Amino acid sequence: MPIDRRTFLSRSLAAGATLSFPAIATGQQNKTYRTALIGCGWWGTNILREAAASGRCKIAALVDVDRRQLARCAEEARKWTSDVPKQYEDYREMLEKEKPDIAIVATPDHWHALPTIAAVKAGAHVYVEKPISHTIMEGRAMVNAARATGRVVQVGTHRRVSPHNVSGRRFLREGNAGRIGMVRCFVLYGGDGPEQPRRNHEPPKELNWDLWCGPAPLRPFNGGAHPRGFRSYLDYANGTLGDWGVHWVDQVRWIMDIKWPRSVHSLGGRPIKGKPVLTDEHQTTDAPDHQVATYEFDDLTVTWEHRQFAGNPAEKTESVGCFFHGTKGTFHLGWQQGWTFYPLGRGQQEIHEEPKLNLPDGQNIRELWIDFLDAIETSRRPVCDIEEIHYSTSLSLLGMLSYKLGRSVQWDGGKEVCVGDAEANKLVRREYRKPWVYPGT
Ligand SMILES: NC(=O)c1ccc[n+]([C@@H]2O[C@H](COP(=O)([O-])OP(=O)(O)OC[C@H]3O[C@@H](n4cnc5c(N)ncnc54)[C@H](O)[C@@H]3O)[C@@H](O)[C@H]2O)c1
Repeated sequence: MPIDRRTFLSRSLAAGATLSFPAIATGQQNKTYRTALIGCGWWGTNILREAAASGRCKIAALVDVDRRQLARCAEEARKWTSDVPKQYEDYREMLEKEKPDIAIVATPDHWHALPTIAAVKAGAHVYVEKPISHTIMEGRAMVNAARATGRVVQVGTHRRVSPHNVSGRRFLREGNAGRIGMVRCFVLYGGDGPEQPRRNHEPPKELNWDLWCGPAPLRPFNGGAHPRGFRSYLDYANGTLGDWGVHWVDQVRWIMDIKWPRSVHSLGGRPIKGKPVLTDEHQTTDAPDHQVATYEFDDLTVTWEHRQFAGNPAEKTESVGCFFHGTKGTFHLGWQQGWTFYPLGRGQQEIHEEPKLNLPDGQNIRELWIDFLDAIETSRRPVCDIEEIHYSTSLSLLGMLSYKLGRSVQWDGGKEVCVGDAEANKLVRREYRKPWVYPGT
């Protein structure tokens, strides 16, 4: 039987070690933030709900290139607010007309950089979703824009405020798992077989597909990428490593206090889903169905592993999270199952802590939104500041870069270049589809 962390704490740790969350600073509490949502899908609606619940935000505008998504989000918002937000298709028009105090950017990944940069330049503070960018130099441009304008840019890596992640970090940093020599991050979901190509067809009349693709290639439409499916199309996202991976590699950076790796090597493929298909008639996704990436830090090796087949029946923890392997045992940091420490010593009991997740999203957006408003009001960096999460996003993107090249890359994180590797350096940016222009750094 594992003991719970409270019992462990009362036996083993210093008294008074409690979780602390940022409280909103006093002084500016009368301000109501005119808030706009860019990207009104699943996650954007979840963030907007927490903005409304804070009681500090007036929902001024909704932006989406799909009128059905706009209508769905507006209908949902009517359940929590009497605000009547204006609706837009183009974020540029919205920024110009509404001049919001806050913009939430919850578009697919290829559409994070330009709206975030435009929003801070228009004077808004931004809450942008992870991964912050599709290529590394977009992320750098976002950091630079945030700093040049002095706006607060929070990223939606809410695990930095989740109670069990906060306590797990403290448990590890106090040395309870000993010295950590290796961390293994993983997401092992699914049991799917070969992917059948879907037939391309005309996009629905409510959707501006050209604007949805924006700076990325204009693929034929088949309903696979939108809504939510973009994660598995490398034109628009970076597969499971870009989607889920960034949460876990960010946890490793945050807990271990490390910045960037010296080298990265990744392998993977689609032996189960099959070769990607893209013809005028049909297409499949093209992200790998499994992938392994290895990151070399000073005195620490970090690995990432995902699989969309076979699940993970052989291991008893939940199928997502990180194993921190230390000299005193293995610590599993998970999500819906909290964390568990498996000690090495004979007869020692496992230690476990349950998560404290909010409904209906099953995460801790609420706490991150509170931190965001507090950072605005006290002119400080937020918990998930854009620069920090740029480094975490870069870990995911470097893994994908190595996977695409089929070989390892040496990384100079200070200069943000692949050392002596012109081919790799081409992949830290991408060609934008005209008329969109890749953001300058
Ligand atoms: N932090 C988390 O735990 C978490 C969880 C889920 C999703 N996310 C992130 O949120 C983002 C959105 O994911 P989702 O699952 O909600 O996808 P979704 O497909 O449900 O929503 C994205 C919406 O953006 C719209 N869109 C596309 N281009 C646009 C543009 N130029 N302007 C305005 N709207 C545009 C789409 O039409 C769609 O309605 C992704 O980056 C994803 O990684 C984060």
